Amino acid sequence: MGKEGKYGAFFLALALFLPFLALETDRRMTVALPVDGPAEVEQEQETKFIALTFDDGPRRSTTGPLLDGLAQRGVPATFFLIGEQVPGNEDIVRRMEAEGHQIGIHTYDHKCLTALNAADFSAQVDRSRQLLGEILGRENFLLRPPYGMVDAGVERRAGSAIILWSIDPEDWDDKNAERITRHIVSRAKDGDIILLHDIYSTSVEAALAVVDALHEEGFLFVTVEELAAQRHVELCDGQVYRSFYP
Ligand code: NI
Repeated sequence: MGKEGKYGAFFLALALFLPFLALETDRRMTVALPVDGPAEVEQEQETKFIALTFDDGPRRSTTGPLLDGLAQRGVPATFFLIGEQVPGNEDIVRRMEAEGHQIGIHTYDHKCLTALNAADFSAQVDRSRQLLGEILGRENFLLRPPYGMVDAGVERRAGSAIILWSIDPEDWDDKNAERITRHIVSRAKDGDIILLHDIYSTSVEAALAVVDALHEEGFLFVTVEELAAQRHVELCDGQVYRSFYP
């Protein structure tokens, strides 16, 4: 091979090799981008707050597994209890308090509170507060009236804030965990209050699936009181709250 032949071979080799160098550089660049991308997006994402609430309990067979599932996920919830279901379930009430859940009342035996006289109202609401007070040593429990029914009398006598809800999948209707989960996850917004009933195993299943799905979307679960505090809302006696949107 002559001198020109050697150079020719060198340039030929270079010409063949260059595209690989370029390709290697491109590949590293395209790999580097997606790695940095999502991490930055995650940091910029604002935390969204949401409250899970459960009515009509406690019921040992379903509330127990729910508390286990919430504890595994480090998630607090708010429970509106039925007074007459508390005797015999005092350990569950203490466990709720010990594990960071909020406890509220939902009347003594699930009576509609509208149009009640003072004595009947007291037998539903004050009696439930006293019952929980004997276990927990305080009586400042939020009120959720059955069926969300509120009138001027309920507002006047409530003795606490009245907490309703902004998402209701009607979990008592078909008891279909998958549909209930979809209903909630597709509607969930920052500041929502979700209504479920911890007396159905399908609702327990749905609640835990909702927690897992909304954690993926950057939601943080808090109690009703924490949600109000997050939005700098002072809860007033007799006032109705359905959500705490930003
Ligand atoms: Ni109820």
